[in-house]
Amino acid sequence: MEFSGLRTQYERLRPQMEKSVLEVLSQGSYIMGPQVEELEEQLAQMAGVPECVSVSSGTDALLMALMASGIGPGDGVITTAFSFFATAEVILLCQAVPIFCDCNPDTYNLDPFCLEQTIKKHLSSHSPIRLKAVIPVDLFGLCADYTRICEICQDYGLMIIEDAAQSFGASLQSQKAGSFGRFGCTSFFPAKPLGCYGDGGAIFAHTQEDADLLRSLRVHGKGRDKYENRRVGLNARLDTIQAAVLLEKLKVFPDELKRRQQVAAQYTQRLEQIVKTPQQPEGYFCCFAQYTIGLESREQRDKLREFLTERRIPTNIYYPIPLNRQKAVGGSNWPMPNAETAADRVLSLPMHPYLEPKEIDQVCDSIFEYIQGYSQPQE
Ligand SMILES: Cc1ncc(COP(=O)(O)O)c(C=O)c1O
Repeated sequence: MEFSGLRTQYERLRPQMEKSVLEVLSQGSYIMGPQVEELEEQLAQMAGVPECVSVSSGTDALLMALMASGIGPGDGVITTAFSFFATAEVILLCQAVPIFCDCNPDTYNLDPFCLEQTIKKHLSSHSPIRLKAVIPVDLFGLCADYTRICEICQDYGLMIIEDAAQSFGASLQSQKAGSFGRFGCTSFFPAKPLGCYGDGGAIFAHTQEDADLLRSLRVHGKGRDKYENRRVGLNARLDTIQAAVLLEKLKVFPDELKRRQQVAAQYTQRLEQIVKTPQQPEGYFCCFAQYTIGLESREQRDKLREFLTERRIPTNIYYPIPLNRQKAVGGSNWPMPNAETAADRVLSLPMHPYLEPKEIDQVCDSIFEYIQGYSQPQE
């Protein structure tokens, strides 16, 4: 059984995909070929924003968004303690200070109540660190609670940079993921709902001025050309081949999103009685980058994982250590009880558009078998 379905997807797309990739090879524009601009236009339209700048990865997208926002030494950026390391890493790369906030125990996303508490606590501490921005993460494909987060950020004059690495295709009240902050950053890592065949990412922006700044940062801070350098930037372009791959994948993306919803619905229908299943509150459309269940304890989660591995059912743990406890982060270690509980109990099941109903049944049957055995008194 496949965890993210990339091989099955390739079989579906193979003839057209190979034609498009070979076209790039014979056309010869390997860097910033016409496919890159075409892709950016389609992505901007899908996210419902005027500007999209494609880049070399989701991590570079976040880093460039922070650079374009002028985040630097002495600045504080609030983010969730429960995410992939890149979310915090980019703050540190800018020599700014990550300030962690606990996640909501049901959605696993940045908790708005905790965000406001964190801001208040920071402001009353008279710390010399200037609060500048918040990076909410749309974990597992579910948008964070932007209705509340945007109000809070507006009240305290904080910028929002959306980590939409896992949520391209998702929406909240019909507003698309990637469009909520000054910048929205997504990833095209192969296993993402929209993934390329290597590393890739994109930044969504609302003004041409911001997009121009990102396009300069993407190529060594270029001015008129890359030999006139106005600022320090990066080499962070998306390859033309990857743009061609993504253009092919975009053709089936709406259908794949529907299938992900169907797979999730089948899982939830079977599993909600025995484990904690993912939330999709009203008004939210989740793109189900992952289907993540919650168990009762770390021990139960780890043993279930072993049990499923023995049955050749692949699973993953996103994420086993909260960001505030990562060695590379250092500094203060406020308790983050919800992130700690999540790190101990989450387990992501196989999730992709090509998962067959009988495969989903096989996963659910195995989980039932395990949980029922687990709750029997041990001899
Ligand atoms: C929440 C989150 N942020 C950032 C990233 C970084 O994206 P990339 O791997 O494309 O650099 C990822 C992807 O792995 C992610 O899941």
